[in-house]
Amino acid sequence: MKLSSCTAVAGTNIALVKYWGKRDPALNLPAAGSLSLTLKELGTRTTVRFGSHLGSEDRVRLNGRDPDDSTRTRIGTFLDLVRERAGITAHAEVVTENSVPTAAGLASSASGFAALAVAASRAAGLALLPTQLSALARRGSGSAARSIFGGFVEMQPGVFSDGSDAVAESISEGDGWGIRLVVAVTSEAEKAIGSTEAMERTARTSPFYASWLESIPGDLQDARAAIAERDLHRLGAVAERSAIRMHASAMAATPSILYWTPATLAAMNTVFALRDRGLAAYFTIDAGPHVKVLCEQDSVSEVNTALTATPGVIRTFTTSPGRGARILHETTA
Ligand code: PMV
Repeated sequence: MKLSSCTAVAGTNIALVKYWGKRDPALNLPAAGSLSLTLKELGTRTTVRFGSHLGSEDRVRLNGRDPDDSTRTRIGTFLDLVRERAGITAHAEVVTENSVPTAAGLASSASGFAALAVAASRAAGLALLPTQLSALARRGSGSAARSIFGGFVEMQPGVFSDGSDAVAESISEGDGWGIRLVVAVTSEAEKAIGSTEAMERTARTSPFYASWLESIPGDLQDARAAIAERDLHRLGAVAERSAIRMHASAMAATPSILYWTPATLAAMNTVFALRDRGLAAYFTIDAGPHVKVLCEQDSVSEVNTALTATPGVIRTFTTSPGRGARILHETTA
């Protein structure tokens, strides 16, 4: 197999029907499906080069720095999967840059592992299909499986124990609709508890976990229909309740998992007030305190103004639907 250097890019994605719970933690198999929007403005660019001259360790640079130990281990474990599949033993040099603004909880692992799956598999001489890339990216982070595809994407939980059918698929490119996601950054701090540990605790201790899982198939069906009809009110209503239910199940865990801050609640109330004024704006919240507001292009400036004036909101920026992960360039070593 020919080893090369490969640079790939991927946009992050924000789930409108959330993934929160695993049926197999080792293989990162989700307990239920999820549905997301891949974004253009927030993403990762990663270059991978395998070579026997690189010595006995993978070398990783993340945003121009050495990553912390747990990130390095996570990337090394992921590269082991690629090496095993390609039948190589060489270590790799990985250079990765996030265009995600410096704020925690803005889903850099989704674009990060999607870009790494594309760049590393290609650099190792593999030619994987998008579905295979999605299954590979999932091993790095559950949400990364969705960033292989652009626009609106649905993740299948799958039924096989090897996870080969736990992959994402494209539903609609999402362009032409003019949908936007305005992100309200509410904190610069690291998130309190990572998603893997939080999901595990929710599944083990939350009395709401079973009903959370039961609610997902109906939400997926509703979201699919809303996208087909380009009905923002219907899609936004699903997104908002999915986020609230996900957080409610986590809050009810022992010890409680609470990602919201006063600024999160203030931004949620801003969105309710915008809707009272007749504006189609709906929020979603991930495993962190930031609030992401779904709206149409024409409403962006009003949403932006209202969020900027909300106590505790540090800044806002606007994102739009983007393409799936792809190779930027490759060279044969
Ligand atoms: O992919 P992970 O393990 O970082 O989990 C993602 C969890 C949420 O962002 C909160 C929801 C989602 O579906 O992306």
